Amino acid sequence: MKTVLQAISISVLAAVLPAVAPILRAQESPVAKAAPQVDRISQMQGIAQSLGVTCAYCHSAARGSGEPEPRKAIAKAMMEMTDEINLRLRAATGKPAGQVTEIQCSFCHRGVALPKPITDIVWQTTRDQNVAAAVEQYRDLRKRYYGRSTYDFGEEPLIGLAQQIANGRADDAIALMKLNLEFNPNSVRSYLALSYAQTRKLDDTAAIASLEKALELEPENGTVKGRLEQLKSYHRNR
Ligand code: HEC
Ligand code: HEC
Repeated sequence: MKTVLQAISISVLAAVLPAVAPILRAQESPVAKAAPQVDRISQMQGIAQSLGVTCAYCHSAARGSGEPEPRKAIAKAMMEMTDEINLRLRAATGKPAGQVTEIQCSFCHRGVALPKPITDIVWQTTRDQNVAAAVEQYRDLRKRYYGRSTYDFGEEPLIGLAQQIANGRADDAIALMKLNLEFNPNSVRSYLALSYAQTRKLDDTAAIASLEKALELEPENGTVKGRLEQLKSYHRNR
């Protein structure tokens, strides 16, 4: 086990070192500073991984060029912010360091430079472009990040978003629920949200069909039964 771990850390260093070399060369007496350097490198390696970026994402200027490195500056401020949060956590809980949960970059970043809930991403693209672009973006993100902690690809987020926008943007809500059902074909709550959006478009036939699919999945679901009854009787009385 130990040999495996050593092999891994050596291969990690080997992978990193070519990228580090120009940075290391700028340091005085790299031999004397060998141990802290390795600490620094593993810290940097961790940060890069937390954000899903390479070293050059922050260390973007040529060494000694004096050019500004805007992302490194943000990262520096984020480091200070993270330290501050950790101090506040200790103060808030009264627990000493070592016992209180320690916040790190990965707590928020989860493998991306710009951490955002999937609902914000889908909504912003729907609003600024259109729902087709948002659907495509969701598919792409799902392909790349499924199974990681970056985004929640469960049934809940898109249902919540569809419910929020169904009154003003029924077509968009319908498109999002169809997308959700593609990945979660047994999601009764997606069918419920879909049927609600369809009633907003006065498309009772489609809304009834959606509820009937939901009822096939959960024949005893009271909410589905109730809505179906309501919609059918309303339909008859018109
Ligand atoms: C998210 C931004 C970010 C990434 C990615 C990043 N660094 Fe850094 N790096 C910084 C910041 C900020 C500092 C300055 C930290 C300080 O002043 O305490 C720094 C400092 C350093 C230093 C000390 C010299 C200096 O420039 O201040 C070295 C060496 C270094 N990084 C190497 C790396 C390597 C190697 C990688 C890739 C494995 C990497 N960094 C990835 C932000 C980053
Ligand atoms: C409390 C949550 C939180 C923590 C902890 C956190 N960040 Fe961030 N960080 C964010 C958010 C949110 C953004 C995006 C802000 C925005 O919308 O532009 C961000 C943005 C950034 C950016 C700018 C990315 C870009 O492309 O514009 C960098 C670099 C960054 N963080 C580095 C770090 C590093 C390094 C750490 C750990 C030392 C860290 N962050 C810890 C929440 C956090």
